[in-house]
Amino acid sequence: MKKITVSAPGKLMLFGEHAVVYGRPCIVTAVGQRMRATVELLDKPVFELEAPDVKVTGYKKPMDQLGVDDIPKGAKFVEMAVKNFMENVILGNEVTPESARSVDSGRGRHGDLARMTGISITTQSEFSSQFGFGSSSASTVCVIKAISEITGANLDNRAIFDLAYKTVLDIQGKGSGFDVAAAVYGGTLYYITPGKTIEPLNIESLPLIVGYSGIKADTVTLMNQVSELAQENPQMVEDIYNNIGKLVEQAKVAILSKDWTTLGELMNSNQKLLENLGVSIEKFDNMILGAKAAGAYGAKLSGAGGGDCMIALSPEEKTQAVKDGITSAGGQVIEVEASVQGARIED
Ligand code: MEV
Repeated sequence: MKKITVSAPGKLMLFGEHAVVYGRPCIVTAVGQRMRATVELLDKPVFELEAPDVKVTGYKKPMDQLGVDDIPKGAKFVEMAVKNFMENVILGNEVTPESARSVDSGRGRHGDLARMTGISITTQSEFSSQFGFGSSSASTVCVIKAISEITGANLDNRAIFDLAYKTVLDIQGKGSGFDVAAAVYGGTLYYITPGKTIEPLNIESLPLIVGYSGIKADTVTLMNQVSELAQENPQMVEDIYNNIGKLVEQAKVAILSKDWTTLGELMNSNQKLLENLGVSIEKFDNMILGAKAAGAYGAKLSGAGGGDCMIALSPEEKTQAVKDGITSAGGQVIEVEASVQGARIED
């Protein structure tokens, strides 16, 4: 039976984390480290998964058991993506987000889609799931696009986004979907949840330097921490979100005009607001200080906070000094290319 491989990029949040969950815009860039999924249709009703990067090997179960029983942590997103594809595209149930309804579910009973009896999936990542580059969302997108292609469902990007975002919400319960948008569309995006705006910002690259803290952050825990703060101090948190929203609008203009000095200052302001939300950590404070002392235009944490990565924007001639500044503070520099292509078929 034929096989198909799809890859999708990881992501880095540039501006607007946390506030994006509450309706403000954010800016995200897709990074060159990619996730891959190879999908093969089987003629027996079995789901098989090999995901060695997340310690899942030899995992299999009957198709009618998808989503039930104890699912290993590393298998959740892929298994739920397959389940959602079966239910929403093949069986033609209604997909909650608007546009996935445009899928011609009628083919499910007659055409290529009916051939999806069972499925074998192998995933492979070019980056560690520890970095916070969005490996779960990227693998969800890869699997949905690959099944869509191999069954001839030919979902468009919007339908892939909707189904992948629904899958992430089914598992995590919360999240803005910015990481799913980066995996599907690639590039650098101005994004408003739940995919209300997905606007590509046309830039070739960004002089970004990425530093990994060595600490794994748990996004949902951090989101819960922020929502507890909002319950205790609603006005303060609302003001922070509004200020972050304003920064994002200014950052969009600065990115489009390649005004790196202003963009750096906006990163510093965004970092201050994230500190006020209580999501920065001492390790980040030191790495950011190291980057700025070495001549970076600006620096901030990227993502939920509590760990994962920070980013710095650097003049070309200061690149090495900024990297050294981050390393001296105990960070690990990760080479990334920003604003890369979204989900694509590899072979
Ligand atoms: C996490 O990387 C970014 C958050 O804004 C959560 C989200 O947008 O889903 C904290």
